[in-house]
Amino acid sequence: MPCHQISIDGYAACGKSTLARELADELNFIYIDSGAMYRGVTLYFLREGVSFDTEPPDALVQSIDIRFEYVPGAADKLYLNGEDVSTKLRTSQVNENVSKVAALPNVRRRLVALQQDYGHTHNVVMDGRDIGTVVFPGAVLKIFLTANLETRVRRRMNDIKSSNQYLNVDEIRTNLLTRDHIDSTRADSPLKQSEDSVVIDNTNLTRKEQLVMVRSLAALRIQES
Ligand code: DC
Repeated sequence: MPCHQISIDGYAACGKSTLARELADELNFIYIDSGAMYRGVTLYFLREGVSFDTEPPDALVQSIDIRFEYVPGAADKLYLNGEDVSTKLRTSQVNENVSKVAALPNVRRRLVALQQDYGHTHNVVMDGRDIGTVVFPGAVLKIFLTANLETRVRRRMNDIKSSNQYLNVDEIRTNLLTRDHIDSTRADSPLKQSEDSVVIDNTNLTRKEQLVMVRSLAALRIQES
């Protein structure tokens, strides 16, 4: 039986991964955080001193081994060349550079191929920026999630506090706006809302409310497919 893919795209800190994880658990699908894969490559470039002002050599990009592992109810794992780097992906240094790395076409080609492999072998909920437009144009359900800027800043502030880092509100706002700008204006697969996506603004929705809404949409679409 062919696998089902559900895409959740949107700007930074809209709550995409929270929704995607909860939906995957309800449906018994796997969850893939495609942003974590871009963060893993960014960490590798920073550690190895690889310049990402222009595309690094293809052979180097192809040689990076990135694997995302989802275990329901436990923390996600991202393996970079076999090392579990899950707790090293959300530092300010990675946050500040990941959009530049994600704009490199050969990095995107490599990660999109890996993401498509997951979706062709498993039923998957995947979140990111180009999942409904590029990675899985035939996804059974495409969600485009939005929330107002101050809500997103507050949510990111809470994430950062819980990881014991410190950034002030202005720094967080600037980082979100800069990333959104780079992500939606880059030449290769920019973030955009596809015509066949369902737009959900979750500014005034609880987690439970948005989950119930998307869960019933997904059930309907899967039944009709
Ligand atoms: O979802 P996130 O904030 O962890 O994503 C990190 C960065 O990776 C983000 O700035 C945009 C980029 N990204 C992308 O270009 N395409 C994706 N499918 C997922 C993330």
